Amino acid sequence: MSPKFLLPLLSFLSLALCTFASNPNPSLTAYDELNRTGFPIGLLPSGVVSYSLNLTSGDFAVDLADHCRVTLPPDNYLAVYSKRVTGKLVDKKISGLDGIRVRAFFRWWSISAIRSTGDDLVFEVGVASAKYPAKNFFETPDCEGHNGKKASS
Ligand SMILES: *[C@@H]1O[C@H](CO)[C@@H](O)[C@H](O)[C@H]1NC(C)=O
Ligand SMILES: *[C@@H]1O[C@H](CO)[C@@H](O)[C@H](O)[C@H]1NC(C)=O
Repeated sequence: MSPKFLLPLLSFLSLALCTFASNPNPSLTAYDELNRTGFPIGLLPSGVVSYSLNLTSGDFAVDLADHCRVTLPPDNYLAVYSKRVTGKLVDKKISGLDGIRVRAFFRWWSISAIRSTGDDLVFEVGVASAKYPAKNFFETPDCEGHNGKKASS
């Protein structure tokens, strides 16, 4: 095998190993973990390479291959995920969230918390909040463009 082929293979293997090392349960992915805790998998974009969750405190960290832009339904807000997203997941509420920003009303807002009520998700942005049906997030969105940059802009 030429080194050209070997390099991606090696980095894939090391990513796979990292994923196993930090998962609380190696057979669960970050998406499974969302589902298990009552959140739709579409809250995370594709490209999660590892995650960790402290089952005692609920502190979690999700690592993406790169920062990632997605368009959120239904209002087509542009959202940007940092390469690392952290927060605390306790009892159907994600708080202290860091790493997800949404473009709305001509500026960027950090989503600080997300609550699941079952049928709805409540996104908190500072003192304001917005409620959306959870079904809008049943599918994992793909990152737009290369390296999280939107190809068309
Ligand atoms: C979890 O996954 C099951 C099976 O795909 C699905 O029916 C259920 O709605 C999911 N739960 C959430 C909260 O998205
Ligand atoms: C998990 O959280 C508990 C409670 O905050 C803390 O005592 C413990 O050290 C944490 N474990 C890890 C592996 O960080």
